[in-house]
Amino acid sequence: MDTGGQYCHLIARKVRELGVSSDVFPSESHVDALRHARGIIISGGPSSVYDPSSPTMDPAVLSAGLPTLGICYGQQLITQLLGGDVRQGDKGEFGLAYLDIHARDSRLFEGLTDHQRIWMSHRDLVAVPPPGFRVLASTTTCPAAAIEDASRRLYGVQFHPEVAHTAEGTRILENFLFRICGCAQDWNPANRIALVEDQIRERAAGRNVFFFVSGGVDSTVAFTLCLEALGSERVCGVYVDTGLMRDGETDFVEQTFAALGHGVVRIEHAEEEFLGPLEGVHDPELKRHIIGEQFVKVQERILTDRGVANGRWILGQGTIYPDTIESGGSTLQRGGGELPVTGKAKAATIKTHHNRVPGIQKLVEQGLIVEPLVDFYKDEVREIGREMGLSPALLYRHPFPGPGLAIRCLCSAEEHAVTRVPDGWLVPVHSVGVQGDSRSYAPVLAIETFPSAAARLQEEATELVNRSAGVNRVIACVATREPLGRQRVYSSSITHGRLALLRRADGIVRDLSLEAGFDAKVWQFPVILIPLGAGESRDSVVLRPVYSVDGMTADSVTMPDDLLRTMAAQLLEIPEIAGVYYDLTHKPPGTIEWE
Ligand code: XMP
Repeated sequence: MDTGGQYCHLIARKVRELGVSSDVFPSESHVDALRHARGIIISGGPSSVYDPSSPTMDPAVLSAGLPTLGICYGQQLITQLLGGDVRQGDKGEFGLAYLDIHARDSRLFEGLTDHQRIWMSHRDLVAVPPPGFRVLASTTTCPAAAIEDASRRLYGVQFHPEVAHTAEGTRILENFLFRICGCAQDWNPANRIALVEDQIRERAAGRNVFFFVSGGVDSTVAFTLCLEALGSERVCGVYVDTGLMRDGETDFVEQTFAALGHGVVRIEHAEEEFLGPLEGVHDPELKRHIIGEQFVKVQERILTDRGVANGRWILGQGTIYPDTIESGGSTLQRGGGELPVTGKAKAATIKTHHNRVPGIQKLVEQGLIVEPLVDFYKDEVREIGREMGLSPALLYRHPFPGPGLAIRCLCSAEEHAVTRVPDGWLVPVHSVGVQGDSRSYAPVLAIETFPSAAARLQEEATELVNRSAGVNRVIACVATREPLGRQRVYSSSITHGRLALLRRADGIVRDLSLEAGFDAKVWQFPVILIPLGAGESRDSVVLRPVYSVDGMTADSVTMPDDLLRTMAAQLLEIPEIAGVYYDLTHKPPGTIEWE
């Protein structure tokens, strides 16, 4: 159970490495969501149990008869909920410490040496264990470094058994899993592909599997697993070309799947079904809504044509573990999908149109769905893909948003001038940002400095945003045909012409970035078209390379000067492009995408 600790993920992986399947649940999960577990581990976390906003848990979990081990904050939470006393220690304990075990008869410490090196990170500590508990071990600063109530199978440790610095930490976790919870060692990471394939065959139960593939890592790996498990006679997929994809994407998908087996994935050309309704639309939310609706229509039509839900087919999805965290709930109710889903506000929208459309929702409820990657994190998915021989070019692709280039092709309902402000120019192209807990939608500040000192400018960008009321993003001008002050924002919407222009610009940037090895250094590199220009050149390009771990936060990445100059020069060879800008904004206050 996750109380916000940075080691929560690590605990889950450690448990798996010991051969036991594990899932991470939010600490507040209702006891009913956890009854299927053989045991519970409550993670450490940065909070203090006395902070009213700190994570807590359903107290019923502690009386459900489930073996439970609280680690660090987890131990303090157990103590507080069961009537013990947690206090702030005289001094914190951060780093190496030595544990003295007093209760050698505890199952938790079976086979351990009496005195051993552990790793601590806490200020609060358990001063008085709850009634019924005894102290098992201590350090010089922490009198109750481990506690238990063996009759209720409740345990707590103040230190971190999951980290490598705790000498016998693995042994402690093994004791908990095998001696206390009675887990079987039936989850073998080395054989995970075989195990997942067994699960696929079991779930398919003689039926065939149908996929909507996106060309992204997760859906391709999930598809390949099904193909290996069931054979090409029983697995097929459709890739929907929305007309909003990057240059060469449909060919890439066609070739990737052709290499897996002849004719297993068909391309559904639905460009006009998406582009038609988007014509003349400026509002970003309306764009998303239209794209979502069209996805629903196309998917439901294909599902009906294919006879999915007629009893002979089930639907496969590339849902991975992090996707399910946001939707909450257990495996079968989980949403998610093969798309990178991160921001909560967006997740709702994304999931409705890809994985929670009514037709698919019905299949989920009837158990007519197979999600082979639902227990894995992205790096594990890549590893599985690698073991199955998928190419690095596929496995290390950047995430690409479901609504595609539509959210990178900005529109404006009216024509506006840019205006001079103390720090630069206010460009009235609205983009999305995250400021506080909510999303903002505001104009952009453009500064004229050539960003050769980009690293410093990126630091300043956040401050500039905070200082300049009403903006959420700062871009630096790399090169323009006309001075910024002479440029205008033009009235514009999504047209075939503008999409083609964006696709061309994106292709130039991607090729140069790959060639320079820069592509591998960033997490994502959106290229955005904004309707800013002068004369006949009415659009500009914004470069947005970011580094991120999970998309929730991101850093604008400093680009090598020569690469930036080469990109700008090649982009300005296109007559329709008026200028090239470089987005310096971190997330927050900006988002990765502009819409
Ligand atoms: P933001 O713009 O919220 O993006 O900072 C975070 C990550 O999510 C991706 N993203 C999307 N993915 N459908 C998707 O499948 C969407 O509507 C969507 N919007 C943003 C974005 O590319 C980044 O990786």
